[in-house]
Amino acid sequence: MTDAVQTPRVANAAFTTRVFSGIQPSGGLTLGNYLGALRRFVDKQEEGIETVYCLVDMHAITVWQDPKELAANTREVAAAYIAAGIDPERHIVFNQSKVAAHAELAWILNCVARIGWLNRMTQFKDKAGKDREKASVGLYAYPVLMAADILVYRATHVPVGEDQKQHLELARDTAQKFNNDFAAPDFFPQPEPLIMGPATRVMSLRDGTKKMSKSDPSDLSRITMRDSSDDIAKKIRKAQTDPEPLPETVDGLEGRAGADNLVGIYAALSGKSKAEVLTEFAGAQFSVFKPALADLAVEKLSPITNEMKRLMDDKAYIDGVLEKGAERARAIADPVVARVRELVGFI
Ligand code: TYM
Repeated sequence: MTDAVQTPRVANAAFTTRVFSGIQPSGGLTLGNYLGALRRFVDKQEEGIETVYCLVDMHAITVWQDPKELAANTREVAAAYIAAGIDPERHIVFNQSKVAAHAELAWILNCVARIGWLNRMTQFKDKAGKDREKASVGLYAYPVLMAADILVYRATHVPVGEDQKQHLELARDTAQKFNNDFAAPDFFPQPEPLIMGPATRVMSLRDGTKKMSKSDPSDLSRITMRDSSDDIAKKIRKAQTDPEPLPETVDGLEGRAGADNLVGIYAALSGKSKAEVLTEFAGAQFSVFKPALADLAVEKLSPITNEMKRLMDDKAYIDGVLEKGAERARAIADPVVARVRELVGFI
């Protein structure tokens, strides 16, 4: 893949290189989750680094989740991880709520992170909307649980989409303050966000200025990993664009959010840069580019969707993967929390 960046191994030299990331099982995964995160998880695995990939069900319940749907979605996202190419034999795949160390460290870090830091989190403002008083306390404290997820494995690298950058900064600040407060200079690493490639922020198909998201009221705004080939083709056909043909260079996409988004998606799915895509399609109308994009999206996504469905029929297999993954995760996390308890002065 042309846009894959090797994980730098120089920073955090005192620590074993370890990749951690997570996705909320709060509904069908979007193309944004796939291109911005999941596919990057697979790339990291291919580098032969130790990777820990989590289904963050405790984050999901920061907004209401129907319990039956949460369980089904957790299995579905686990199936998506495996179908996309994560090998659960070599790498750790589990759901967050099975490893109590996340919650335990999160509480301690809640007492390290500052309210002022959380008040600056733009995602809380977006998700809580106008009626902040009615948002859950969990939604507010969400970034601290995220810091705990990463730090409990002393992870050095975190592949995420662009929208998680601010949360990663909070994780770094929290790690540093913990190390300072408890005079343990090298205890937690400074986890580095890995935000890479042409699809770090996939936008809504209905409005190229808004992020593609599971929670958008319009189903036409997103492609999901549940969509049939016909759904994918229809959504791309209806995607918001403009009447101009595609430009010759990336600069020509300036001010054309819908066009820029589709070119970015094409680039990410084909493993090319946006510039290469434009070389191929310069001057093309959307009546030509959209069907080409739909064919490519179906070619890349449908095999994953089909494999996901096949895996989901084998509930015992999925549950076994998550159970084994949790055991391996605990083997790393529990000793870290044991040391945190000592540092804090718990007897
Ligand atoms: P979630 O489930 O909202 O998103 C999962 C991942 O998908 C990325 N993403 C996108 N990337 C590109 N374009 C989009 N439109 C798009 N939408 C979502 C997100 O950036 C994310 O990488 N807070 C995390 C979950 C989490 C986590 C962690 C991540 C909890 N603990 C520890 C890393 C490390 C989140 O937003 O999930």
